[in-house]
Amino acid sequence: MSETARIILEGQEYEFPVLTGSENEKAIDISKLRGTTGYITLDPGFKNTGSTQSGITYLDGENGVLRYRGYSIEELAEKASFMEVAYLLIYGELPNKEQLDYFNDSITHHTLVHENMKRFFEAFPLGAHPMGMLSSMVASLSTFYPESQNPNRDITDIEKTMHRLIAKMPTLAAQAYKHNTGLPTMYPKNDLSYVGNFMHMMWGVPSEDYKVDPVIESALNKLFILHADHEQNCSTSTVRVVGSSQANLYSSVSAGIAALWGPLHGGANQAVIEMLEAIRAEGTPLQSWIDRAKDKTDSFRLMGFGHRVYKNFDPRARIIKKAADDVLAQLGVNDPVLDIAKQLEEVALNDEYFVQRGLYPNVDFYSGIIYRALGIPTDMFTVMFALGRLPGWIGQWKEMTENREPIGRPRQVYTGATQRAFVALNDRA
Ligand code: CMC
Repeated sequence: MSETARIILEGQEYEFPVLTGSENEKAIDISKLRGTTGYITLDPGFKNTGSTQSGITYLDGENGVLRYRGYSIEELAEKASFMEVAYLLIYGELPNKEQLDYFNDSITHHTLVHENMKRFFEAFPLGAHPMGMLSSMVASLSTFYPESQNPNRDITDIEKTMHRLIAKMPTLAAQAYKHNTGLPTMYPKNDLSYVGNFMHMMWGVPSEDYKVDPVIESALNKLFILHADHEQNCSTSTVRVVGSSQANLYSSVSAGIAALWGPLHGGANQAVIEMLEAIRAEGTPLQSWIDRAKDKTDSFRLMGFGHRVYKNFDPRARIIKKAADDVLAQLGVNDPVLDIAKQLEEVALNDEYFVQRGLYPNVDFYSGIIYRALGIPTDMFTVMFALGRLPGWIGQWKEMTENREPIGRPRQVYTGATQRAFVALNDRA
């Protein structure tokens, strides 16, 4: 007999089906709750609410497991290229040689952006946050490619839009960087890898033949893979909800970039380095920062610690911590901020407050240290996260579209005033 959940409301019992995922995770299907009982559920922050059934990413927060389409993150980070992982997330299987060649070729041939976009960049103030520029630029792509609006959901148009976005986002990200440095923008070079081409557009200058450093290329490849998807997180849910209104992919991803920007989500990588630098500059004991993070009257949080789902360890953080050590050693960089990070981790992991609440370093705790070592400015860190997360957003948007999921529209419990008569301006107190 299949499992069910029983709810008793006003003395009447209702039964709801229980669903079991492929990794044996359980959910009560309450999709008919309001229709049958008149009640809704209340779950701020969706801490207990599944918004979809997805076949893309599996995450077990208690045991620190992360898999894309069944493949472990450890193995993918070690053995795959970012383009293979992008293909896997979007199409469901690892590509064979022919499929990968076609995919790479298609991406490579869409890397240029319309010359008019340069004029948008010129209009941004110097020092504009690159996430603001990226989100705007990605949204504006929809105006250059109106077929992305695609009300008929034509598969060729969808395919072209997905490939264009993957191809153009590094170009736009690098242009945002060049805008703030005042250096000339670099056109893409199509004989380089996806990551190598991004490096060329970031650090190349017209007068020199830029040589891609394999240490940096490999580190970025790994970082992008580690960030590529994370099931229904804040930005991914945003992409799916925006896309559920049948908004085009560019607008949906632009909204995802905006959601990622916040310091509680992807923006934490910037906030971590700013925090570590402040600790270094002030020279106050680490314990005083830990005490502030524990103090409920103080809004300060230990950035890079804690996660909605991981309550034991974040597998991505483990890989990144090791990668940070390797990259710094290979590049011969000695970063005092890394020492502070390690000491802070040590103090926090032995503190009752952090242990009891399952607060461990997350992916953002160490990623900023690698980005710094690679010469990426702090305000570009979240852009790097966005470049990595892009195939996940696209894969999730595609899945949502193919499943013809209904428009995302939560309910609420209204707590405002009940009906009252309008009071004319002169009669108001
Ligand atoms: N420093 C101090 N206390 C914390 C922290 C922290 N970083 N994170 C959580 N807590 C406390 C929180 O005050 C609460 O305590 P209590 O139960 O006494 O009220 C408890 O731990 C549970 O926290 P929560 O805010 O209810 O947990 P959440 O699941 O809603 O939030 C989080 C998760 C990631 C937003 C949060 O841990 C946080 O703000 N961390 C710092 C920002 C950060 O590093 N974000 C990056 C997340 S990983 C990258 C990504 O995928 O987005």
